[in-house]
Amino acid sequence: MKVQKHPPIFSSLKPSNHPYLNGAWTPQHEEVDAWDLEVIEGAIPADIDGVYLRNTENQIHQPLGRYHPFDGDGMLHQIDFKDGRASYRNRFVRTRCFAAEQEAKQSLWGGLMDRSHISRRPGFGAHGFLKDSSSTDVVIHAGKAVSTFYQCGEAYLLNPETLETEGLAAWGPLDGVSAHPKVDERTGEMMFFNYSTHAPYMHYGVVDADNKLTHYRPVPLPGPRLPHDMAFTENYAILNDLPLFWIPELLEKNAHVVRMHRDIPSRFAIVPRRGDGEIRWFEAAPTFVLHWTNAYEDGDEIVLDGYFQSNPEPGSVKGAPEGYEHMMGHLDEHTFQSRLHRWRFNLKDGSTKEETLDERILEFGTINQRFAGRKYRHIYSTTSLPGWFLFNGFVKHDLDAGTSQTLTLPPGRYASEAPFAPRIGSTEEDDGYIVSFIMDENSGTSECILIDCKRFEDGPVVRIKLPHKICSGTHACWADRAFIRDRRAP
Ligand SMILES: [Fe+2]
Repeated sequence: MKVQKHPPIFSSLKPSNHPYLNGAWTPQHEEVDAWDLEVIEGAIPADIDGVYLRNTENQIHQPLGRYHPFDGDGMLHQIDFKDGRASYRNRFVRTRCFAAEQEAKQSLWGGLMDRSHISRRPGFGAHGFLKDSSSTDVVIHAGKAVSTFYQCGEAYLLNPETLETEGLAAWGPLDGVSAHPKVDERTGEMMFFNYSTHAPYMHYGVVDADNKLTHYRPVPLPGPRLPHDMAFTENYAILNDLPLFWIPELLEKNAHVVRMHRDIPSRFAIVPRRGDGEIRWFEAAPTFVLHWTNAYEDGDEIVLDGYFQSNPEPGSVKGAPEGYEHMMGHLDEHTFQSRLHRWRFNLKDGSTKEETLDERILEFGTINQRFAGRKYRHIYSTTSLPGWFLFNGFVKHDLDAGTSQTLTLPPGRYASEAPFAPRIGSTEEDDGYIVSFIMDENSGTSECILIDCKRFEDGPVVRIKLPHKICSGTHACWADRAFIRDRRAP
């Protein structure tokens, strides 16, 4: 393995016993390129050609107040596969806030759990007092990596092969871009939304394969909301108005306290993908949903799958470090109880049907992106360690057969979201691999693993050593090199 280290960034972070600044969540500040990665076990498949990209929060500076892992600075990690060989690189996203804090050599903004007055400069996004760290999500669109922030920051474009930050997306609207823009690989379009604290509170937009904003419209809501993800079908985008949102009276005083309003139904907007046609609203049981897996049209119905939370406002966790009791609950899937769920919205009679698809606690699901927006069969969810925001295994669902397969990681090994990499030339939906980074707390090292989805329970077909230990992280994507080059799936 050949490794090239880049000049160090300045960090003012001091050692602490914070649960999300230690162990698998220890920030990595080193930026490297590495080639000819060493294989620990198995062999790197030669039948994939593309990149796996993962965004991660890596806090650089000593926090002004109480740190929440969603406050950390955005770093992209990438592993590139070609001809049975792999290379790796990682870079901080060079956001405007990253540059300002490097210059100031300290934190300039408070975090999600801090009072708003703690920030020393005006903040970004719907919250209005936070740093835009572009640390939440990453997708590939129009040949670029697009990194985004869950509070609706600015969309940053990076070269997906070198990870060089190229700047802000020219199409980024005033109210920013939420995490989880969705790419339809068949058309090359990217759909996105944003939310804010001023009317109309939400917008929806489309950026085409040539990186031009072709559509942008309001999706009016009754007040400020906190949607996190969206879905799409061949003809519709699906946005949401869920009853977990900032308490309005406190928000007026710039206090951001989230409350589950259990007397308010969940509402779903079925929005025409392009054009200004009518928005249809559907009601369903109150919940909060972090992530959807997919949606598609089925006759008169829109089918939407995602993770229904039974307890979206978990309250305090006993035994958590003082001051972090709520944070620990909000980061624990076993506390907010997310289960795979299906909603059916009938466009003819306006009715909603919903059902639980699996009783287990799951979240962070991926699919073969070629089936995004279309009828699909397979989801790859993660399982998590009770009490922690750490993934300890994967579940492959076969929605047609109603069956699933589970792969649990050995104790002390934690995964990242695992997107699906289709085998070159494949036509079957599950003919390919899921790709994940592993943080191994037993050995203090990190790896990349690939799991053959046709032999899911056999475990990784390859374990690839990374040149340094990386911080636990969440959202990731896979892009075939042909898709990066051509901007549309073949
Ligand atoms: Fe997310």
